[in-house]
Amino acid sequence: MKIERVGVVGCGLMGSGIAEVAARAGFEVMVRELDEAAIAAGRRRIERSMSRALEKEKVTAADNEAATARLQFTTELSDLADRDLVIEAIVENADAKAATFDALDAVCGDHAIFATNTSSLTVTDLAARTARPDRFVGLHFFNPVPVMRLVEVVPTLASDPDVVESVVAFGRALGKEPIVARDGSGFVVNLLLVPYMLDAVRQLERGVASIPDIDTAMRLGCGYPMGPFALADFVGLDTTLRIAEIMFDEYRESRYAPPPLLRRLVSLGRFGRKTGRGFYDYS
Ligand code: CAA
Ligand code: NAD
Repeated sequence: MKIERVGVVGCGLMGSGIAEVAARAGFEVMVRELDEAAIAAGRRRIERSMSRALEKEKVTAADNEAATARLQFTTELSDLADRDLVIEAIVENADAKAATFDALDAVCGDHAIFATNTSSLTVTDLAARTARPDRFVGLHFFNPVPVMRLVEVVPTLASDPDVVESVVAFGRALGKEPIVARDGSGFVVNLLLVPYMLDAVRQLERGVASIPDIDTAMRLGCGYPMGPFALADFVGLDTTLRIAEIMFDEYRESRYAPPPLLRRLVSLGRFGRKTGRGFYDYS
């Protein structure tokens, strides 16, 4: 199963990173966003990341030009009709994702593989709502995609083993280290990481220490690259809340329950870095 043409649906934090690394690895990439403003924001995110990679001497200017030439943008889902692999990276909402895959089913060829970058939804439930559960897997990247080496590949009971093998090979072609995880909400990383971030919010609510002091404690005491609040702001508090709600709904364990403070910040539109304010103020 040769993967040459890749589609990416959603060009937010994750979709922009996925599109960038795929184009950099030599794939022809078509990105679909909702409107021209979202395309412009996605392009800017990719350009900023490419400039950063150039500054850090990870790539040359020629590499950036070649990758940019392999990237195309559209608002029309039908422009993904000729893709071999379509990776969905839209908001963490089961119905929105299912509607996207439903529309993709109608336009993409029978050979096309569908993958979801979901953080916490079960891949099986999304696969079951498509006409091609055998050609459907989870492909979970980490933020920031151009930097983080891991990708989780998540087959379901219905996935064709050849499809899984092709997607693992695709992950390697992107320069990532794929692991294969069982399909359960949170896979491996979020199963462990999400309760840690939520627990940090609960400790803040209990008055254990200030936000910067808890972050400093985890950075300098444990060697983590970011403290839990900086990380939650980086992931997006809206996304973190959605993930917590989905994982709590799945497991009914208090460790996944969204803390009230997280809800209040999201109600106020303080989604973290992407809106300029979350636990920290970035303005
Ligand atoms: N393209 C390519 N490489 C880049 C780059 C880019 N745009 N930007 C930076 N890099 C490289 C740098 O050159 C550097 O490489 P070396 O180590 O070889 O020198 C490396 O990436 C780190 O970059 P910086 O030194 O500029 O950045 P930093 O040290 O400030 O680290 C960070 C930034 C990578 C974000 C770091 O703080 C970090 O790892 N934070 C934690 C991120 C994390 O935990 N992500 C997972 C979130 S959870 C998730 O994603 C799953 C989910 O479903 C919610
Ligand atoms: P985001 O809010 O930054 O981006 C989502 C994008 O999807 C937006 O630009 C929005 O305009 C677009 N969109 C919504 N509906 C669309 C549609 N029907 N067609 C095309 N575009 C559409 O979110 P994100 O952080 O990039 O998260 C995307 C997915 O990746 C979610 O499932 C999330 O759980 C997962 N994820 C997030 C992270 C993270 O750290 N933020 C890490 C791994 C996985």
